[in-house]
Amino acid sequence: MSDENNRNQSSEFMSDEEMVEIHSKLNHEKHPPTKGFLSAPLIFVFVFGCLIFVCSIQLAHSTNQFQLHPPREIVELSDEEKDALRLERKIESGKKIFGVRCASCHQANGLGIEGQYPPLAGSRWVTTEPSLISQIILKGLKGEIEVMGKVYGTSAAVNMAAVAIDDREIANVTTYVRQAWGNQAGEILESEVAQFREESKDQVDQWTGDQLVDMYPAVFAE
Ligand code: HEC
Repeated sequence: MSDENNRNQSSEFMSDEEMVEIHSKLNHEKHPPTKGFLSAPLIFVFVFGCLIFVCSIQLAHSTNQFQLHPPREIVELSDEEKDALRLERKIESGKKIFGVRCASCHQANGLGIEGQYPPLAGSRWVTTEPSLISQIILKGLKGEIEVMGKVYGTSAAVNMAAVAIDDREIANVTTYVRQAWGNQAGEILESEVAQFREESKDQVDQWTGDQLVDMYPAVFAE
């Protein structure tokens, strides 16, 4: 047993001064001097704090306010710019439709194949009346026609069937064809195509070349 008992017993024989001295000694050992020891880590904490602060400001500046995917800038477009953008998208869509529904015959470059598929680049069938090219897509075309001084459709086997796409797709693809490869004709609207479809609803068979030439005298005047 124990030191403690011994000490308690011995304290009875100690003077007050001795007691104070012993206690202060004990105290001294329990709490080693803290001065100078505390201030060093405090300075480090402060310096690191400042560093982190400065770094985060720097980071915030260089990384779009910490946003990995910053919101797109909202750009105010004028009405003309909006319309140009709309037309651009329409033509893009028309180009895709052309690639799927027309390019196998008329070729991606719009030049067709001589003796078989007539060219669309520079063709008056394409660049004049909006309804003419629309009607050809709506109902198809057979029989002899002349395109850019050359005759096509001389063989009954080579003809164009109606292309089964909706009004919007016809508007997009005709608008594309009318401005591609140097062609410079205006846009065709979906609502116009709907009207052309209505106008030719009684036409069951493919158009013949002669029939269309009669229907559009102004186009084939010369
Ligand atoms: C299967 C082949 C084929 C496909 C597909 C086809 N055409 Fe044709 N197209 C022809 C042929 C053949 C003629 C000529 C018919 C004739 O001489 O009677 C023609 C004629 C035309 C003409 C009138 C003549 C000219 O060259 O300007 C236009 C316009 C036209 N096609 C547009 C299109 C468009 C637009 C598409 C797609 C939406 C398309 N065609 C899909 C074969 C095709």
